[in-house]
Amino acid sequence: MPGRMNLARVPEDYFMPGRFAGKTVIVTGAARGMGADAARRLAREGANVVGNDILEEFGAETIQSIRDEGLTATFVGGDITDEAVCEEMVRVCVSGYGSLDAAINNAGVMDALHPDEPIDYVNQRDRLMARIHEAGNEYWRRVMDVNVTGTFYCLRYQLRQMMEQGTGGSIVNVASVAGIRGFGGTPPYVASKHAMQGLTKNAAIDYAPFGIRVNSVGMGTTITQMFERAFEIIRQRLASGYKDTGISLAKINSLLQPSDQNGTGSTPAEQVAIMLFLLSPEASNITGATYKTDGGFTIF
Ligand SMILES: NC(=O)c1ccc[n+]([C@@H]2O[C@H](COP(=O)([O-])OP(=O)(O)OC[C@H]3O[C@@H](n4cnc5c(N)ncnc54)[C@H](O)[C@@H]3O)[C@@H](O)[C@H]2O)c1
Repeated sequence: MPGRMNLARVPEDYFMPGRFAGKTVIVTGAARGMGADAARRLAREGANVVGNDILEEFGAETIQSIRDEGLTATFVGGDITDEAVCEEMVRVCVSGYGSLDAAINNAGVMDALHPDEPIDYVNQRDRLMARIHEAGNEYWRRVMDVNVTGTFYCLRYQLRQMMEQGTGGSIVNVASVAGIRGFGGTPPYVASKHAMQGLTKNAAIDYAPFGIRVNSVGMGTTITQMFERAFEIIRQRLASGYKDTGISLAKINSLLQPSDQNGTGSTPAEQVAIMLFLLSPEASNITGATYKTDGGFTIF
């Protein structure tokens, strides 16, 4: 098509020097994917980062790689469904850096596997994506626990600290396009991401009078391990004799994907750019919003 061109994407190493200078920011799910990239970019922009992840070894390595750049970051290992872990992240912010100014609640799951557990579709079916009539209890409970209850625990301790400080704050909850529209074959993921939007709106109302802004982002396909693992699950399901993919692939492309000659989804850097914008003072008039960081996915 004449005039057709690739998108100019946010460069992977782009950052705005000094934007978060002296601010202390929590990032959950910081071992890999968007959480790792958000933690790194925040530190490059001057923040003291407290990163958390259930992948303790890998998370510690990611945070150490940030420190190796001469930047400031601390790791708190553990599962966000454990309330004590969420409390500990805040305690580390205050004892190490004197305050908590912002947070990105990014840790999330699509299934009930441990995030680095090898995929073995046939033996893990009860813990993997499935339509409601086939879905296992453990699958339902784990996805709801991590995405909803874990986010609630994080918010509770973050907001308690921000209220005590009396200096305002900003929080971004990482939801999904699955929190904006329907998506086949992933009932607790869709339900939990809608619930995260609800929590975001609730918190925005309750804490606006205290100068605390709470927003969410709803991204479409972004190239991370979560996305790659979802496709491996589909591949194994088809290889084990199923005639359908389980997860609906009725519509997975964004509007912008055809602009990329490889047709790829969005990049973590593109997602992190909007998360950090929402955290920053430039977004001072935005609260309770869901930013559709989905390349136009939800408009057509
Ligand atoms: N990649 C996509 O296409 C996409 C699309 C929409 C939404 N999202 C959301 O973006 C967020 C980040 O996903 P990603 O794509 O970077 O995936 P990812 O799996 O690469 O990263 C998620 C991180 O969260 C951690 N984590 C999972 N459960 C945890 C728990 N209970 N406690 C602490 N840490 C935990 C994982 O170990 C991992 O490091 C998730 O909330 C996901 O639902 C991703």
